[in-house]
Amino acid sequence: MRVLVTGGTGFLGTALVRRLRADGCDVVALGSHDTDLTRPDPLAGYDSQRFDVIYHLAAWTQAGDFCLRHPGEQWVKNQQINTAVLDWWQRHQPQAKLVAMGTSCSYAPDLPLVEDQYLNGTPIDSLYTYAMTKRMLLVGLRALATQFGLRYLYLVPSTLYGPGYHTDGRQMHFIFDLIRKLLAAQAGGPDAVLWGDGHQKRELIYVDDFVDTAVRLTATVENDVVNVGSGEEHSIREFADAICELIDYDPAHIQYDTAKYVGARSKVLDVSKLARVLPDRANTSLRDGLRETINWFKLAKPRAA
Ligand SMILES: NC(=O)c1ccc[n+]([C@@H]2O[C@H](COP(=O)([O-])OP(=O)(O)OC[C@H]3O[C@@H](n4cnc5c(N)ncnc54)[C@H](OP(=O)(O)O)[C@@H]3O)[C@@H](O)[C@H]2O)c1
Repeated sequence: MRVLVTGGTGFLGTALVRRLRADGCDVVALGSHDTDLTRPDPLAGYDSQRFDVIYHLAAWTQAGDFCLRHPGEQWVKNQQINTAVLDWWQRHQPQAKLVAMGTSCSYAPDLPLVEDQYLNGTPIDSLYTYAMTKRMLLVGLRALATQFGLRYLYLVPSTLYGPGYHTDGRQMHFIFDLIRKLLAAQAGGPDAVLWGDGHQKRELIYVDDFVDTAVRLTATVENDVVNVGSGEEHSIREFADAICELIDYDPAHIQYDTAKYVGARSKVLDVSKLARVLPDRANTSLRDGLRETINWFKLAKPRAA
């Protein structure tokens, strides 16, 4: 099978490309340095090749308050990236199934996080532009499927974690930041200060679990939206306690800064559709996933933002 992966150099892309190659796929993995998708006709060099699947992972974003500080650039760049990929798909790769990534941030916080509600209500202010570009990606997929009979799949991941995250100093998703602060404190640094009161709840999915699920859904589901999460929600305090136990650090030393930005109070995807489509799916336990992530973190030593 011939596969093209945009965002193939990113955190998720690297894990997906590794899995696809292990499965024997012929993979073209693109990053922004070889193929800047904001430039005119960026995929022209691949016009004559025929792909069976296009995984569209490329997006211009970071964790933390990045979306709050870059709404204008995010709108321009992500609209350019998504339009370039969808336009090229329709004109040059109509035989391919396009698998795109949404975000749980696109859901309105006052509505259930169930697929039928993805385009309804208003996403939270701080992530509004990023969330709306992801909604427009789904609108584009649907429009092209309707007019040209193309095939797509739109997956909505919860927050991904696992080995292989960024090491280059960009803002980290909360779980990596938590590990960084607690490892530093355990190594004799100042006490860890966590953002918020620690009661805000989050869901994680281990990156290799997500990749496995994405590959299986690509083979079985067409022209639909599917939430892909672990279905488990934990408070920041629970995540911190689990990390403390694994690294042998006393959680009583942790301080909580309630003045800091924390985003939504609670965010867990409804995964009942996923359970119906893939009833035999299993998740890596949080403890095992955190242990692997901490081990990677100690070796890779990612820089803080
Ligand atoms: N990580 C999560 O928890 C999470 C959760 C929900 C949804 N998602 C979605 O999943 C996808 C992958 O996420 P990720 O965590 O792997 O993100 P990531 O590590 O930031 O990777 C982003 C990828 O997009 C590429 N990219 C950025 N700007 C580009 C441009 N102008 N032209 C071409 N490529 C460009 C990057 O290339 P370079 O590295 O070469 O610059 C990189 O390969 C994204 O669509 C994201 O919205 C992720």
